[in-house]
Amino acid sequence: MAGITPEFIEWRTMDDADGLFGFDDNRLPQPANPPPKISVQPSFIRLAEAVLCHSDPTRFALLYRLLFRLFHSHGLLNMATDRDVAAARQLAKSVGRDYHKMTAFVRFKEIPLAEGKVGRRRFVAWFEPDHFIVARVAPFFQRRFTDMDWLIATPKGSASWDGDELKVNDDPAPRPDLRDEIDDLWRTYYASIFNPARLKVKMMMAEMPKKYWKNLPEAELIPGMIAKAEADVLEMAVKQASEPLPFHHRIQEAAARVPTQPLPAVGTLAAVSEAARSCTRCDIHCLATQTVFGEGPANADVMVVGEQPGDHEDLAGRPFVGPAGTLFDEALKLAGIERDRLYVTNAVKHFKYQPRGKRRIHQKPNMGEVRQCRWWLRQELELVKPKLIIAMGATALFALTDMRQKLADVRSEPIAMEEGKTLFVTVHPSYLLRIVDEDLKEKEIARFREDFASVKRLM
Ligand code: URA
Repeated sequence: MAGITPEFIEWRTMDDADGLFGFDDNRLPQPANPPPKISVQPSFIRLAEAVLCHSDPTRFALLYRLLFRLFHSHGLLNMATDRDVAAARQLAKSVGRDYHKMTAFVRFKEIPLAEGKVGRRRFVAWFEPDHFIVARVAPFFQRRFTDMDWLIATPKGSASWDGDELKVNDDPAPRPDLRDEIDDLWRTYYASIFNPARLKVKMMMAEMPKKYWKNLPEAELIPGMIAKAEADVLEMAVKQASEPLPFHHRIQEAAARVPTQPLPAVGTLAAVSEAARSCTRCDIHCLATQTVFGEGPANADVMVVGEQPGDHEDLAGRPFVGPAGTLFDEALKLAGIERDRLYVTNAVKHFKYQPRGKRRIHQKPNMGEVRQCRWWLRQELELVKPKLIIAMGATALFALTDMRQKLADVRSEPIAMEEGKTLFVTVHPSYLLRIVDEDLKEKEIARFREDFASVKRLM
């Protein structure tokens, strides 16, 4: 309320603020008299409530900075590319994840009532959250376990419920001794729902990260069950003869190809493209017919980035030559842009799909695959040095910026990037192909075309 700009404020948490006690309050700048009325939009309050739970000590400074900036720029929170907004959203997201994990991994142990005593059943649990989420999650447990008394102890505070009052305390709680036969119950339950044929270790580890294992009685079964499941799957694979893929000869050809021309000079786009032909950085290459590298002038001012080659592109070895490419070409033509002035490429250079009968069904590349393939995209960016980059779809946006926000938040506006480059985001043409409602499809195609009209102006 005294209008102090963020850079003049140093934030400390109580743990490290000892030296501040005894600080002379009178030296603090006083708010204007009468103090200004401060109002702020509800979306900031919601965001701040989540961010404040994070254990990052910079959260107060970040929120104050955001709040301060909000007074001058009311639409700030909608600017997903803003550094502070993105950082706050990221913190809120990890608080959300921690919240979810706590609701899933708290294991209550019953504390038996004293002999002859009657009353509500009592339970205790120990959990180790990453963030200060106990107060935030407590109402969830109150709703869920309303007919029992419980205490959840954590190193970041505790919560308890006795049927009347939900109490939350910020003090670190001591770890209770919780060994008892309920562990066996959990283990039996977990073993009985475990299906080795459905085992996806990566997904399981993402859902139930190792750090939670020590407080989950069932977790000690996991390594054994994984080992056994792998053995079972291997055995099944050995027994099952599989047919070669109908286009396997193309894979063989690509692998055996001996260059007939002299190798291109090192450090050129042609050399990188040649090297990418034998890329095995991720598993997608196993199924794809060939690497589909970017194409276009090596000094193009504009680079267009899609997601990954589709069925047609995989067979042709060129980007955007299938149905999505047709939509893309039409938009370019209407905007008056010649495709051969652009460098057109994809975030991922191999076609990822699932064989279904004779069809190959497109599968979205995961973030790990996109990160692996970024190795090629970065080299393309470095060598082509485009001034304007068009990201078509969320995968391209992520590959180029690491951002995972809604396209709607960043679409159709030029965004300044490092080295004076400009980024322009639009939807992926395959999204347009998937729209069922005809009216909506028409509208969305028109918007896509308008985006390319904007691209033309930017060019
Ligand atoms: N979709 C893409 O993202 N890229 C292509 O090359 C084709 C379809």
